[in-house]
This record gives sequence, structure tokens and C-alpha cells, in this order.
Amino acid sequence: MTGFRIPFFRPSVGQGEIAAVTECLRSGWLTTGPNVNALEAELAAYTGAPHINAVNSATAALHLALAAWDLQPGDEVITTPYTFAATATTIIHAGGTPVFADVRDFDANIDPEAIERAVTPRTRAIVPVHFAGEPCDMDAINAIAARHGLKVLEDAAHAIGTLYRGRMVGTLSDAAAFSFYATKNITTAEGGALATADPGLSDRVRRLTLHGMSKDAWKRYDAGGSWRYDIVEFGFKDNLTDIAAALGRQQLRRLEQFIEDRTRVAQRYFANLRDEEALILPGFSEGNRHCWHLFMVRVRNEVSAAPRDDVIRKLNERGIQTSVHFIPLHSFTAYKALGRWQWGDFPVAEGIFEGAISLPMFPDLTNAEVDDVCQALREILRGTA
Ligand SMILES: Cc1ncc(COP(=O)(O)O)c(C=O)c1O
Repeated sequence: MTGFRIPFFRPSVGQGEIAAVTECLRSGWLTTGPNVNALEAELAAYTGAPHINAVNSATAALHLALAAWDLQPGDEVITTPYTFAATATTIIHAGGTPVFADVRDFDANIDPEAIERAVTPRTRAIVPVHFAGEPCDMDAINAIAARHGLKVLEDAAHAIGTLYRGRMVGTLSDAAAFSFYATKNITTAEGGALATADPGLSDRVRRLTLHGMSKDAWKRYDAGGSWRYDIVEFGFKDNLTDIAAALGRQQLRRLEQFIEDRTRVAQRYFANLRDEEALILPGFSEGNRHCWHLFMVRVRNEVSAAPRDDVIRKLNERGIQTSVHFIPLHSFTAYKALGRWQWGDFPVAEGIFEGAISLPMFPDLTNAEVDDVCQALREILRGTA
């Protein structure tokens, strides 16, 4: 419960989810096991990705893929500053150096031309982020990667179900990391998955996910499993539980409906706010399927009766919760302490941030609630509230 009349997000958890989790709790098998295996198979069928590794977050999926590529000190990985910290922090934890490339103004996705300019002899990989569920220009990014011999790892935390030129996210590059965090398009409370066509990457990630063990722990306790195992490298502890996977399997069945509902909400926002002078509405490329994880508007501070921060506060006072995606990474203390960037280095990302507000967006948001948000927003922007 958020205490807001209209929350930013409310999860859609139905009787199917409650029954599946209850059944798992009663089954005697709580952690990684049959539900995780089934979720991996179902995600593979849904996305078309040949290999899925279910893990306990998108952060883990990003980190494990980068770790499996054995980054060496000084290896550079190009990504966007307009993202959540996990995208770049995992590069640092995997031993690499994040290099930021600015985004495109119309959809806040990384700009392929900025990537090209950021490539050096030390570049090893590119990590594009499908912001809000709008796909990056993957053909351009893959072409840069092919030209320079780089890996591509998509941060698809927002983008399960997104289609790029008719192809599912998860099948577009070397690997993609999905998030099943509580607010994401499907949830396991905390969870994520790596999708890849590379069996070697998937095998290595599976080993690194569970201590670098030669066998999955759940097989050790299964009928016929052996107590003996080896530690073949230094791994992590990033596995997903069966309780979480039971929830995720039910959510996945509902994903297409969730995307339809989110699309309805987005269309209603567009219809309501189309003529609002003081706003820039989200841009997207034709020919793709946006999955509308977020609906981010941008306040034109020079036109609006109230600047962005005041708009957020006034919406809150009227019981409407919003969020901001994202605070550019190079403005954070830990990133500034690296001494590599300053405010002004990524003018497009910075400009988007100055006006950014993510409006309430979830499948069960009613048309009347959307209209209510738009009415309040309009009055605040015009100073008639
Ligand atoms: C773009 C992006 N990448 C990565 C993550 C991390 O996801 P998780 O919480 O599943 O680790 C998030 C979470 O909000 C995100 O927005």
C-alpha cells in the first residue's frame, strides 16, 4: 500500500499466482528446482531465445554475463548514462570500465553515433538499455559491434515482450538481461533472466550463478543425485528460488494481456496530453512493439507554470504518485569520485532528466484514473490548479 489515491505502480497478482506459490510452498521444494527449470523453458518458448538462465535479478544477469566474458582491467564497456545504476555498476564489478555515450533526444535510448565515437582499442562490449520498453536501434548497434569485434549485452530490464522490427528482445544480440523486479512488466518479486543463443555463455553463467559448482545444487538433492561436487571456479550466489519462479510462470502467461493493457494506458495518455504545450510526450520508432514499462513525459520548464520538481510535488499533494527515470549516473557521488565525467558531458541525457516525470503506469490503471492524472497535470502545468 502506498497511501496514494493513484499509485505509480500496483502489481497484478491474481488467484493463479497465489495458488501456484501456495502449491510450491506445500511441495517441499522451495529453492532452485522444477519451477525454475519450467520457467526457463517457458521463457525460451516465449522469447525464442535458445538458452535462458533464470537468476535472482537483472543486476545478477548483467553481472554474470560480463563476468563470463572475462573482462580484464582497463577493458571498456560502452553504455548509457541515462539508466539505473545496475547497468554500469555491474561493469565495474565485472572488472571493466564503463564508458558513457549520450542518448537520442526523442526516446532516451543510446545514440549509435555516440557509441561509434566512444569506441577505442580497449572497447570490449556495448550494453544498450531499452529505455521504458522502447527498443534501441539494434541493427546499428550490432553493425558497430561487428565492425569492431565487440560483444553486445542488452539491458532489457524494461523490455520483456518488446519487439524490434518484428523480432523479440532476447534474440537480437549476444545476450539480454530481463528484470522481474516488483514493478516490472512481469514479476517474481525479485528476479531476472539472461537470454542468449550461445550455449557456452549459458553454461558458464549457470556455473557462476551457483558458487562455480560443477553441478546444480538441486540435482544434488534429487533422487539419484550425488553428494559429490567440485568447485571449478570462483562463482557467486545468484540463483532464483522455486517460490519466485512459481509466481513468474503465472505472470508470464499473462504478459501479452499486460502489454495490451499498458498499451491502452499509453494511448489514453497520448490522446489526453497530445496538445499540451508544456509537455514533450515519449517518442518511439514505427515498426517496433513498445511494451510500455514506463510512460515518461518531459516538462518544458521554460513553458510550464511550474518547474518539474514542483509538478511532482503538486501531483503528490493531489494523491498522485510519480517517479523519475533516471537521474543520470554521472551526477552520482560514486561515479563523480571516479573523476571521469562532469555535468555537461552528456547534454541530451541531462536535458531529458531536467524535465522527466514517469506517470502512473500499470495494467490495472483504469481509464478514469488516467484521465484524473491528466486533468491534474494539465492544471498544474497551466497554473490553473
Ligand atoms: C534499466 C535497468 N537496468 C537494470 C535494473 C536492475 O534490475 P533488478 O532490480 O532486477 O536487478 C533496473 C531496475 O530497475 C533497470 O531499470
